[in-house]
Amino acid sequence: MRSIMKLISKWLFSNLLPSNLQDYIRGYHRSAVLKFHIKRLIQTPENYINLESDASRALMDRIIYGWGNPDWSADSRYLQACAAAALKSNSNILECGSGITTLVMAAVTQSSSIQLLALEHVSQWAERLDSVLRDFGFTNCKVLHVPLTNYQKFDWYDKRKFDNGSYSLVVCDGPPGSTKGGRYGLLPIMHKQLQKGSTILLDDCQRADETKILEQWSSEYQLDYKISGTDKKYADITFLGQ
Ligand SMILES: C[S@@+](CC[C@H](N)C(=O)[O-])C[C@H]1O[C@@H](n2cnc3c(N)ncnc32)[C@H](O)[C@@H]1O
Repeated sequence: MRSIMKLISKWLFSNLLPSNLQDYIRGYHRSAVLKFHIKRLIQTPENYINLESDASRALMDRIIYGWGNPDWSADSRYLQACAAAALKSNSNILECGSGITTLVMAAVTQSSSIQLLALEHVSQWAERLDSVLRDFGFTNCKVLHVPLTNYQKFDWYDKRKFDNGSYSLVVCDGPPGSTKGGRYGLLPIMHKQLQKGSTILLDDCQRADETKILEQWSSEYQLDYKISGTDKKYADITFLGQ
C-alpha cells in the first residue's frame, strides 16, 4: 500500500508541478538531507568510519545525494576511507580536487587541531565549497582556488600559490584525468612535504590512467599500497620516502 502511495505521489510530482518548482523542491530536499547527515557525522564521527559497516555506507550515500553532484563525487567506500583516515590523522591534511570528500573530512576533524587544505583549480567549485564550509561553520578547513600550471611533462596545481606545510594524509581525487598527466604531479611536486609513513588515498584506480600513475610512483618513490573498493577502486598508499 505504501509503495503504491509513493508511486502515485511521484507521478503527481513529475506530471503536475512545473519543472522549475520541481527543481526548487529537489534542491531544498537535497540541502536538508545534506545538513541532517553531516550533523550526524559531526556528533559521532567514530560511528561512521567502519569500512565494513552498511549503516556507515548508507550515511555516506545520503551525503552524496545531498551534495547533488553524483557523476563527479567520490563513492561511499572512498568517502568512508577518507573519513576514517582523517579521523586517524595526527597532522594536517592536503586534498587535491575538492568536493564532498572535503566536507566529510572537515566534519570529522572539526573539533580537533587538524587543518585541512583543499586545492581546487576551478574557481566556481572553490566558491561553492567555501560557501558550504562557512554555512557549517567549519573553520578548520580552507579551500584554495589554485590554477593548474605546466611543469614540462605534466600539469599540476601551481605550487607558488599555496604554503609549504607538512602533511600526513593526502586525498588525491584531482586534477581530473583530462588534464595533462592527471594526478601524477602530486609526488614529484609535493613529496618533500609528505611525512614518512603518510597516507595517500588515490581514487579511481579502476582506470588505466590511475593504474599507470601508481606504477610510475612505485618505480620513482618508496611506497606500499593496497587496492580497495568494488566497482570504483582506490589505492590506500603508504608513502615511505624518495
Ligand atoms: C573527481 S572531482 C573531485 C571530487 C571530490 N573529491 C568529491 O568527491 O566531491 C575532481 C575535479 O573535478 C571538477 N569537477 C567537480 N564536479 C564537476 C562537474 N560536475 N563538472 C565538471 N567538473 C567537475 C572539480 O574541479 C574537481 O576538483
